[in-house]
Amino acid sequence: MQVVILKDTDAVAEYGAQLFIKQLAKKTDAVLGLATGSTPVALYQKLIAANKRGEVSFKDSCSFNLDEYLGLAGDHPQSYRYFMQQQLFDHIDIDAAQTFVPAGDTDNPIAACQDYEDMIREKGGIDIQLLGIGTNGHIGFNEPSSGLMSRTRVKTLAPATISDNARFFSADEEQPHLSITMGIGTILDSRQSVLLATGAAKASAIAATVEGPLTAACPASALQMHPNSVVVIDEEAASKLENTEFYKHVERENQKLKAKLGL
Ligand code: GLP
Repeated sequence: MQVVILKDTDAVAEYGAQLFIKQLAKKTDAVLGLATGSTPVALYQKLIAANKRGEVSFKDSCSFNLDEYLGLAGDHPQSYRYFMQQQLFDHIDIDAAQTFVPAGDTDNPIAACQDYEDMIREKGGIDIQLLGIGTNGHIGFNEPSSGLMSRTRVKTLAPATISDNARFFSADEEQPHLSITMGIGTILDSRQSVLLATGAAKASAIAATVEGPLTAACPASALQMHPNSVVVIDEEAASKLENTEFYKHVERENQKLKAKLGL
């Protein structure tokens, strides 16, 4: 697991955006794994700006989002489909028909989960998966106790997640308690994973992810098993890590090596 500690949220977003831009430069028809939450918004703004400047194109790519609230149709303002349209898809040259988000309004969630897995496989698997992290260590909606080899399925949200996400719902809106989420096994199958976290509220979850044991009690710790995983965080999110100086040293060495190899 590569740990990159940067000074602020803007630097975190820029680092993450560059990984997506490099991936698309290498493979124009890349399969992108995308995430919701407040953390990726700055990264999406950077991708939109780069797309408008002609520095990156999404026209041959496709995307799969991590999760969706069960019970919300895509035109519901709190649905993750709606969020993605507003925050990214409506502003870039991606083919709308090639953007996939689990079907929150499905009559048959079990079949919808299997269909999602099948579609990811048919597209050749996810090349680069963006992740945020919950304060309880969840990735997607894989709450603590999620199976570390789980696949896309219906998950019940933890009370901590419901309260963390309550800020997005107005008093008259009913907040869903169920979701469809890629499983941890689905996420581990991605060829590269990029987890972003900023702010002190994420510091305990990041410490558990990076330096804690591999455990379903912190679903993001499963990324310790990922063959190509990077955790990009700001100083506040890094504040409970013990080995920060070592991670910074490793990153300097990585950058030197990349410069030498022209990567
Ligand atoms: C939601 C999403 C997660 C996301 C998390 C953190 O629960 N299902 O994928 O990582 O929120 O969100 P934020 O970035 O707003 O802290």
